[in-house]
Amino acid sequence: MRAIKIAFHGGVEGLEVAEVERPEAVGDRVRVRVRAAALNRADLLQRRGAYPAPPGFPADIPGLEFAGEVESAGADARRWRPGARVYGITGGGAQAEYVVVPENALAEIPANLGWEEAAAVPEAFITAHDALFTQGNLAMGERVIVHAAGSGVGLAAVQLARAAGAQTLGTARRTADKLERARAYGLDEMCVVKDDPRAFADAAKAWTNGAGVDVILDLVGASYLAANLDALAPRGRLLLVGTLAGRSAPLDFRQVMGKRLRLTGTVLRTRSAEEKARATRLFAAHVSPLLARGALRPVIDSVFDLRDIRAAHERLESNETFGKIVLQVTG
Ligand SMILES: NC(=O)c1ccc[n+]([C@@H]2O[C@H](COP(=O)([O-])OP(=O)(O)OC[C@H]3O[C@@H](n4cnc5c(N)ncnc54)[C@H](OP(=O)(O)O)[C@@H]3O)[C@@H](O)[C@H]2O)c1
Repeated sequence: MRAIKIAFHGGVEGLEVAEVERPEAVGDRVRVRVRAAALNRADLLQRRGAYPAPPGFPADIPGLEFAGEVESAGADARRWRPGARVYGITGGGAQAEYVVVPENALAEIPANLGWEEAAAVPEAFITAHDALFTQGNLAMGERVIVHAAGSGVGLAAVQLARAAGAQTLGTARRTADKLERARAYGLDEMCVVKDDPRAFADAAKAWTNGAGVDVILDLVGASYLAANLDALAPRGRLLLVGTLAGRSAPLDFRQVMGKRLRLTGTVLRTRSAEEKARATRLFAAHVSPLLARGALRPVIDSVFDLRDIRAAHERLESNETFGKIVLQVTG
């Protein structure tokens, strides 16, 4: 089968489309014919050699999410019939014509979504849903800061918060363009940070009449930590999901203790198969129906053919994307 291969670590020249062996579905595993996959920051790191695939996943075929059709199944797999339209996340290997995953790592694609739209969903929406609701206990009427609100995960979070009756304040680094566009997906308030994180803490205070926000979905990391603690209301929850701007910062214990804050770190890729299955089950129950109704929409920045993988990586590295980059895998 054709697959994206990391021939050597470094720049985009290390990426190629290669013929590799097709994986076999055994036990409770299912082989999916991948129609479209999507790109993630993790792929950039993996390409550079800084984020190896977890054990049990192909070391040199990237790809954390996919949409496609069930093609065959192991002897113990019961849930899916050949031809079922499915999407899901995996620890690697999805940027290929076939991917093999446990049957409970799959969810049915709503009929109104095409392959490319479906491929833009799993990583962003499962991450945002799991962080905001399963871990952050976001409730109706609460207020949330979503950092990097024009990102794939950010736009999923804005829409999910809105669908659940919460309000959002989105941030961007330099310009308001992406935030203006995010309004169409339900963003309520916006703040351009411009290298001074105090800007969003001040904006959050003004927005909440000094009370602070209930939840922060942080995709940015280190440089926002102090302002995040400042922006939170008593018993606020800080969800650490990404480290775009660094992974180490001093922590003011008194602020955390005094406000009784909760800091939760989360990552999907390295979770056990059972934990991924649980996150996928909750996503299938709570998120897919909203996609089916059009209350949530996949946001696609651009679509690339598998052959143009190098250009796709360059586009993601440009930081200009709004939503997801999708790869067409099979027609
Ligand atoms: N923990 C998990 O399980 C999990 C799952 C998925 C993703 N993630 C992480 O979540 C983050 C967002 O992922 P994504 O796929 O949604 O991202 P994305 O769509 O690639 O968007 C990232 C955006 O963040 C902003 N940004 C980039 N570098 C930044 C910096 N140094 N400081 C502040 N903002 C910066 C840029 O927008 P502006 O310049 O417009 O602000 C950029 O377009 C990544 O770190 C990713 O690795 C974690």
